[in-house]
Amino acid sequence: MSTHQTENLEPSYQSFTVRRAAGNIGAEIEGLRISGDLPQSVIDEIEQVLLTHRVVFFRGQDHLDDRTHQAFGARFGTTEAHPTVPSREGTRLFELDASKGGGRADSWHTDVTFKSHYPKICILRAVTVPAYGGDTVWANTVRAYEKLPPELKSLAEQLWAVHSNDYDYAKDRQELDKARLEHHKKVFISDLYEAEHPVVHVHPVTGERALLLGHFIKSLHNFSTTESARLFELLQNRVTRLDNTVRWQWQQHDVAMWDNRATQHYAVNDYGNQPRVVRRVTVQGGTATSIQGQTSRTRTAPQFSEPGQEDTRVQAGAAAASGRSQEPALA
Ligand SMILES: [Fe+2]
Repeated sequence: MSTHQTENLEPSYQSFTVRRAAGNIGAEIEGLRISGDLPQSVIDEIEQVLLTHRVVFFRGQDHLDDRTHQAFGARFGTTEAHPTVPSREGTRLFELDASKGGGRADSWHTDVTFKSHYPKICILRAVTVPAYGGDTVWANTVRAYEKLPPELKSLAEQLWAVHSNDYDYAKDRQELDKARLEHHKKVFISDLYEAEHPVVHVHPVTGERALLLGHFIKSLHNFSTTESARLFELLQNRVTRLDNTVRWQWQQHDVAMWDNRATQHYAVNDYGNQPRVVRRVTVQGGTATSIQGQTSRTRTAPQFSEPGQEDTRVQAGAAAASGRSQEPALA
């Protein structure tokens, strides 16, 4: 093997080969067929790679189906369905199908931060991949925090934000598809969820500090809408700097697994009308904790939907009936 093929290998793993995918985030695990039956030592090593590199890729997992995909996810914790988007029948899988409304996640976000307890790990499986385009990009929110100048760190550490599934969907999109708008009005925001999170949180496993931002943020405490938007932009731009990201070109049967507490992601919408289907297993997480030790709070949630519990759709249509202004959102 030539030098350039070995320079990106990470030497310290027993169960598989780990190859860095970019300089500051992302690694590919080679030589492993993932499943729910892997020895605990292998699961532990996968988790270690995940904590180190934030997002992990597995090529060629053509043996996986919905059931075994979920079984693999369940090795990392309790899996959960999306709070508002119905799962595929008989599963807790969240499907993004580009041919349907809501199937294109082309905006920077951390998954489901409109809940006080938001997912810790997400595992996305490529079911149908377009011939070109449709890459996904992940950003490292730990490094984004670490690279802030001290003055900005101090400010960010004091900030709290309201995250909502009823956020400004249209803000940064150049093309707005009518079906997507309709899907989100009727499905994604069928129940309103709002949570308050610290802008800087302490990772519950590694103890690292990370920025907790993304498109679900509606406002910052004690700041006007305009001021919130300016402060958000200042910090969010640090997350999405290209040197802080990894871009994955999907192949059929790839799996991407990310630490949702240390990343944001963006699915590039550049594949036109080609089919693209991905399915996500979501592993339940907890609240975020600020550096002062305060935890995230639920601001709005449907009745009977307590933080940390399995969400049940008990008030479908209630939000629409309330006449709230609604725009679509993404997972
Ligand atoms: Fe997402």
